[in-house]
Amino acid sequence: MASSLSRTLVGIARTSTRAIHTTASASSSTLSPVAAAHMRPVNGFVGAIGNTPLIRLNRLSSETGCEILGKAEFMEPGGSVKDRAALFVVQDAEERGLIQPGGTVVEGTAGNTGIGLAHVCRSKGYKCVIYMPNTQSQEKIDLLRMLGAEVYPVPAVAFDNPENYNHQAKRHADRLDNAVWTNQFDNTANRRAHIETTGPEIWDQTDGKLDGFICATGTGGTLAGITSFLKQKSGGKVQCWLADPPGSVLHSYIQTKGKLMDREGGSITEGIGQGRVTENLKPDIEKLDNSVHVPDEESIAMVYDLLHEEGIYVGASSALNVVAAKKMAQQLGPGKTIVTILCDGAYRYQARLFSRKWLESKKLDTAIPEHLQKYIVLP
Ligand SMILES: Cc1ncc(COP(=O)(O)O)c(C=O)c1O
Repeated sequence: MASSLSRTLVGIARTSTRAIHTTASASSSTLSPVAAAHMRPVNGFVGAIGNTPLIRLNRLSSETGCEILGKAEFMEPGGSVKDRAALFVVQDAEERGLIQPGGTVVEGTAGNTGIGLAHVCRSKGYKCVIYMPNTQSQEKIDLLRMLGAEVYPVPAVAFDNPENYNHQAKRHADRLDNAVWTNQFDNTANRRAHIETTGPEIWDQTDGKLDGFICATGTGGTLAGITSFLKQKSGGKVQCWLADPPGSVLHSYIQTKGKLMDREGGSITEGIGQGRVTENLKPDIEKLDNSVHVPDEESIAMVYDLLHEEGIYVGASSALNVVAAKKMAQQLGPGKTIVTILCDGAYRYQARLFSRKWLESKKLDTAIPEHLQKYIVLP
């Protein structure tokens, strides 16, 4: 059953469209539900979450003969796709009576969920404590602190090590009164955010005429939730694929139908790649039709390409998703409509992604084509 939250998010579009239809001129009646949603006031920070545009990537669409569409999650009020999950896990804790006014939300996060949570917590009057691997960009750590969160960067160790950032977050919440560990990896309120909001938005924005959806996973909430919704709504017709960076085990898992979980190398992408099947991914992993592995060389080149060709400034996980959408288009053939996620902006990573020294240290400077080298503006 849809929660009151999803009624707010999904309902905004419909209510707003109705209001505009009855009061405004004929031209505004042609507004899409998403555009119409942006015409009306929303209730605080949380009311602004969701209803993001779906952007046609013009160059890639004409190159492939497909409609390649990117869900502009970098336009969320907290700047990433994780705003949706942040809102749902906090609302879930409230609904289950796990947190009272003035309480503390504790989370282990590579950054974006923490940023979403820090915003949601400020807007709702909760304290926010974040544990993160110390491999994450300084921009994200600084932003969390600017948003009032208490941040603990800790050594990046595997999930089965008790010092993993997630386990440390849980122990921190256990030590406090009126505190909740929102547990984004295994709390399925995260997946529900996408079943109840992102999936329906994509369906409405394409009038149900889409053939494929593809994206990478961190917690798996985005891929699982959208897959769950689109498979159910289309009677299984929409192809749903995983996009996977180096260092993640899920491509191997899907290609071998669950027999292997091979991990090779590491990736410059942040927030994606996974060493296990999370509780968020578990209910939907068998529904996935295929998977695509994307090397960092292709992701970084696409960061620059999207900027140069489409004027879109996004991080490496979004670029990886777009590379994967292009591969899906090439495999499905011309005439198809394919949707992916533009997870966040490049602002959070610019000191790395646009620095020659950093690119050289990762041996990725040569992956950027000659005509795009001019965008490497930082030393
Ligand atoms: C930049 C970025 N892209 C993609 C994702 C993956 O989203 P999900 O956790 O829903 O799988 C994350 C998650 O933190 C992220 O930070």
